[in-house]
Amino acid sequence: MSKKIKWGIAGLGNIARKFARDLIGAPQAELIAVASSDIDRAKAFQSEFDAQKAYDNYEDLYHDPEIEVIYIASLNQNHKSMSLAALQAGKGVLCEKPLGVNTKEMQEMIALAQKQNCFLMEALWSRFNPAIRKAKQWVEEGQIGDPKFLFAEFSFYRLNVESSHRLLDPKKGGGVLLDIGVYPLFLAYLIFGKPKNIAAQSLFANTGVDVQTSMILQYENAQAILYCGIANESDNNAKLGGTEGEILLHGFWHNTQKVSLTQCGKTIHAEFPSTGNGYIYEINEVNRCIASGKKESELWSHNDALELGRMVEEVFDKIRQK
Ligand SMILES: NC(=O)c1ccc[n+]([C@@H]2O[C@H](COP(=O)([O-])OP(=O)(O)OC[C@H]3O[C@@H](n4cnc5c(N)ncnc54)[C@H](OP(=O)(O)O)[C@@H]3O)[C@@H](O)[C@H]2O)c1
Repeated sequence: MSKKIKWGIAGLGNIARKFARDLIGAPQAELIAVASSDIDRAKAFQSEFDAQKAYDNYEDLYHDPEIEVIYIASLNQNHKSMSLAALQAGKGVLCEKPLGVNTKEMQEMIALAQKQNCFLMEALWSRFNPAIRKAKQWVEEGQIGDPKFLFAEFSFYRLNVESSHRLLDPKKGGGVLLDIGVYPLFLAYLIFGKPKNIAAQSLFANTGVDVQTSMILQYENAQAILYCGIANESDNNAKLGGTEGEILLHGFWHNTQKVSLTQCGKTIHAEFPSTGNGYIYEINEVNRCIASGKKESELWSHNDALELGRMVEEVFDKIRQK
């Protein structure tokens, strides 16, 4: 692949900065333009990451004829409207997770991507992490026998933020399930697929969003215990046990650089050191897909995003019944 893919970024907050750091180091990517609701933020971002243009509105970015793909890095409640507008303008879209705040939104986005014949992917970056792919390969090779039990959590202490913070504000798509619960659910889906059923319970903030959510996923022949929360610190390891061995994904497992395989009392390690923030792998995947004319990734397809969205909805149904 020789041609560089031309990128734009819309919504210039915390995650956009981390992503841009990796994007400008990607061999097949070029940052053409960035757009923010705040021109000072756009100009500062342009200068920090050496983008060619800075816009004070998203529409100009969507209609910039040079750009091929736009990374949507705004808050959850804006993912659908911003992705639809970019797709309508004929751009490919990499949209931050969750793709939409529910599957109805996701279906609308996927339908428009198909109608417009444009690339669309949820930025589920863990799917492209080489250590997680190694763990998946070990499972497929039968290295742990039949996988039977997954324990995965994603938690850190962040209850000390203002109630207007995106994590706690329901109007900003807050709550831990949408923000970080998607990761353990993703890992269960990657290993075991769709569960037969899900049990879940949550504790809630005064704002009404969940701040601790525990889930048990039931499969025909396996179980997963998953947790997400902003009430406690954790090593954030994930463990996958099978009939003949165990895999440890070292914390923070969703962006891990190391996985270990234990069989018959012997442990081997696979390490994938990275100097960036961990987004390079999804960036490379988007570049590869767009350069080869693909409209979705085989590793994280539209259907995968929808299935994960359905799992999230099932958990929401359960925690809201309590
Ligand atoms: N993949 C990951 O590792 C990861 C990690 C953290 C978050 N995320 C996801 O990334 C997205 C953004 O998270 P973030 O932490 O970057 O958020 P953030 O810094 O709080 O805000 C991101 C951008 O959202 C826009 N925005 C729209 N309405 C806003 C409002 N009412 N208040 C504040 N900002 C508003 C702003 O864009 P303008 O610049 O245009 O004004 C802002 O710069 C979320 O969907 C989150 O789920 C992903």
